[in-house]
Amino acid sequence: MIPLTAELSARAGRAFAAEGFAAELGSVQASDRPDLAQFQCNGALAAAKAAKANPRAIAEKIAVHLKADPLFSKIEIAGPGFINLDVTDAALAQRVSAMASDARLGAPETGKGKKLVIDFGGPNVAKPMHVGHLRSAIIGDSLQKLFRANGWDVVSDVHLGDWGLQMGQLISEIDHRGIAPEYFDANSSGPYPEQSPVTMDDLEDIYPAASAACKADPARLEEARLATAELQAGRAGYRALWKHFVTVSEYGLTREYASLGVRFDLWKGEAAVDHLIAPMIDDLKARGLAEMSEGALVIPVAEPADKKEMPPLILLKSDGAVLYGTTDLATIIDRVQTQNPDFILYVVDQRQHGHFEQVFRASKKAGLNGHAGLEHAGFGTMNGIDGKPFKTREGGVLKLYDLIAMATEEAGKRLAEQGLAEEYPAEERAAIAKIVGIASIKFADLSNHRISNYIFDLSRFTRFEGKTGPYLQYAAVRIQSILRKAEAERYASAAPVVRSPEERRLALLLLSTTEAMEGAEFKRAPNILCDFAFTLAQEFSRFYAEHHIMSESDAELRAARLGLCALTLRTLSKVLDLLGIEIPARM
Ligand code: ARG
Repeated sequence: MIPLTAELSARAGRAFAAEGFAAELGSVQASDRPDLAQFQCNGALAAAKAAKANPRAIAEKIAVHLKADPLFSKIEIAGPGFINLDVTDAALAQRVSAMASDARLGAPETGKGKKLVIDFGGPNVAKPMHVGHLRSAIIGDSLQKLFRANGWDVVSDVHLGDWGLQMGQLISEIDHRGIAPEYFDANSSGPYPEQSPVTMDDLEDIYPAASAACKADPARLEEARLATAELQAGRAGYRALWKHFVTVSEYGLTREYASLGVRFDLWKGEAAVDHLIAPMIDDLKARGLAEMSEGALVIPVAEPADKKEMPPLILLKSDGAVLYGTTDLATIIDRVQTQNPDFILYVVDQRQHGHFEQVFRASKKAGLNGHAGLEHAGFGTMNGIDGKPFKTREGGVLKLYDLIAMATEEAGKRLAEQGLAEEYPAEERAAIAKIVGIASIKFADLSNHRISNYIFDLSRFTRFEGKTGPYLQYAAVRIQSILRKAEAERYASAAPVVRSPEERRLALLLLSTTEAMEGAEFKRAPNILCDFAFTLAQEFSRFYAEHHIMSESDAELRAARLGLCALTLRTLSKVLDLLGIEIPARM
C-alpha cells in the first residue's frame, strides 16, 4: 500500500512540475493544524524563495491544478502561501477499505530484500542481570518485531557476555572452595564429567563472593586475571568448567526472557568468535593497523576532527587476555561471514556509546564490516525514586521473575479497583494480572524516547487511565467485546464509510499507520508507536461515544461501523504486538 501522504505528494508534485517547479516541492504532510485542514503542503514557500517570486502567487497556481483533482474536497491557501488540503470522504473510505483487505495492514516495505542483525540483551554468564539488560530486552524486542513487520530479514542475537574477567573470577573461586578439583589438574586434558559441578543457585552465590574477594585482595584479582587468560588460551579443565557455567546460565536466562515474552534467533556469545581472534589479530598486525601501547596491543581510532579524547581500542591486554571490544570486532567478522547483513544494530546502554564508537571506527578502518552499516541505538537508565539505577527492594540483583511478580501484584490490585475480571475464575484473573503487569512495564519503558532516563513507578505504570499499557489493553478488549457481541447477534460487518467528523479522524489516523511504522524504524524509536497506539485508542473512544453501533437500526450503517471497529482493533493489536504487549481475551 502506498501511504496516503505519498499519494498526495505525487499529485501535488505533478502540479508543481506543470508550473515548471521541481516535483519534490509537492511534499504533503499531515497538517500541523488539524482544526484547519487534514494535510498541508509548504512547497510554494520554497519555490518562491528559489525563484525570488511571491509565494502566494505560486500557491494560487498550484491550487488551480489541485482544485481540478476530484480526490480533494478542499484546497485553501493560508498565511504566506501554505496550501491546506482535505480529501473527500469517499476517497478516505475507499483507502480505509483497501487497508482492511491488505494482509500487511499498511506496513511499509522499507526492508524489502534487506537483512538486519540486531544485537541486544547482552546478559553476562553467572552475573546477575541489571536494568540495562531489561531495557535492552524490551526495546530490542520491539525493534526486532518492527523491522520484521517492515519487511526486513531480521536475525537477533542475545550476545552473551561469556568471555570476560568474571569467568576467571568464577574459576578461581571454585578452585579456592575446592569444589571440583578434577578441573584444576594442569596436566590433565580430560575427559571431564558431563554433569555441572555447580547449579545456577551455586553460581548466584559464588559470583558475588568471587567478585568481593577480587575487590578486597589484589592477589585474588591477579589469580582471576591469570585464570581468564589461561581459559582464553585454551586450558582444557577451565574450558570444561566454562562450558558448564554457560549451559547452566543459558537455561536460567532462557526462562527469564521467556517470562517476558522475548526471544532471540541466536544464542551466541563473545566466546563464539574465539577462533576468529588470533587470525584477526595477525591480519591487523600484518596490515600495520594494530600497534603496541603500554604493553597492550591496540588499534588507534582517534581522528583529527575529534572534540573529545578518543582512546585506542584495546585488542590484547599485556597478559594476552582479550576484552569485549576484541570480541565485538571479531563478532562483526563472524556476522559478515555467516549472515552477510546490510546492517548491524546494537541495542545497548547509552553509557557504552564511546565503546561502540571505538569498535565501529576500528572495524571501518580495517574494512571488517564490508558493506554492512553499524549503528548503536543506545538507551538511558530506569531509575528508582532515589534517582539511581533501579534495584529491587532487597537492594541487589534484579530478577525478571521478581520484577514481573511485583508488576503482577500491582496490576491485580488495579484490576480489583476497577472492578475488572472480578467474576472470572481465579486462574484467569491471575493470568490477566500477569499480562497487564508485563504490559505496564513494557509500555512505560517504550513510551519515552529510548535515550531518556525514567523513574520506575509501578503505581503509575499500572493505571487504567492515561497513557499506559493497561489503558491500551482495555481499549482493545472493549472493541473485542463489541465485535464478539455483534458476532453473537450475527450482525454483518462491511467496508467502513466515512461521514462524521469522528469517523473522518479515525480514518485519517488509521491511514497514517504506514508513516508511524516508518518513522519508528527510521528513528529506532518505539515511542512513536506508543503515541500512535494511544491516539488511536482515544480517537476510537470519541467515535464510540458519538455513534450507535450495536444499537444502530440501519443495518447497512451498522455493518460499516462494525467494519471500522474491526479495522481499528486489528491495527491496535498489531501495534501493541510490535511493542511486545499481549491483549487478554477479556477483562
Ligand atoms: N555484556 C555487556 C554488558 O552486560 C554488554 C555487551 C555489549 N556488547 C555487545 N556487542 N552487545 O554490559
